[in-house]
Amino acid sequence: MTKFITFEGVDGAGKSTHLAWFAEALRQRGLDVIVTREPGGTPLGEQLREMLLNQPMSIGTEAMLMFAARLEHVEQVIEPALRAGRWVISDRFSDASFAYQGAGRGMDWDKLKQLERWVGVQPDLTLFFDVPVEVARLRLANNVSLDRFEQEQDGFFNRVRSGYHRRVAEDPQRFRVIDAAQTLDAVQQQLLDIVATI
Ligand code: TYD
Repeated sequence: MTKFITFEGVDGAGKSTHLAWFAEALRQRGLDVIVTREPGGTPLGEQLREMLLNQPMSIGTEAMLMFAARLEHVEQVIEPALRAGRWVISDRFSDASFAYQGAGRGMDWDKLKQLERWVGVQPDLTLFFDVPVEVARLRLANNVSLDRFEQEQDGFFNRVRSGYHRRVAEDPQRFRVIDAAQTLDAVQQQLLDIVATI
């Protein structure tokens, strides 16, 4: 049964807006849903998020802190909720580390796989909001302040996007790829189709 769902995409894909709407659609079906996010989701994880989004650091440190925050998140929030019979929707999870630190920054894919195995948990379903980088960039232009990742150039985001495609190719059963370049209504229709299959 689908219970642990993650949302992924490049910055500006619109996943956070769609996540709130999707969670509400599941609640209306009577499901007990919690919404959380990465990096973050716990008090320690939020402190790590603050550093990760603002402070320059080596690629390896960045990857390990992402996974450190994730381990805390899994142990403190995700697993207890799943054990209590709740549904968990996370705004980003391990795929983001492969896309951003792996494909984006060039961190070794196999090292990331070791960290992923350490954390242990895999989502039952991952919605990947796929959008051309130019479209994502236009949406980000409305943000007043950009974090360390959002300030990267198009080349970085193109690599991140291809990193997500690599993850989809490695585990196609787990993913649903959403065409996020479409209008809000059209994307919501795609999400409703997914809700109907849950
Ligand atoms: P994001 O979901 O974009 O937060 P917000 O919508 O509030 O800006 O996540 C923050 C950033 O963290 C995003 O640019 C991607 C990055 N990130 C990684 O590089 N690796 C990871 O493992 C995770 C979870 C996020």
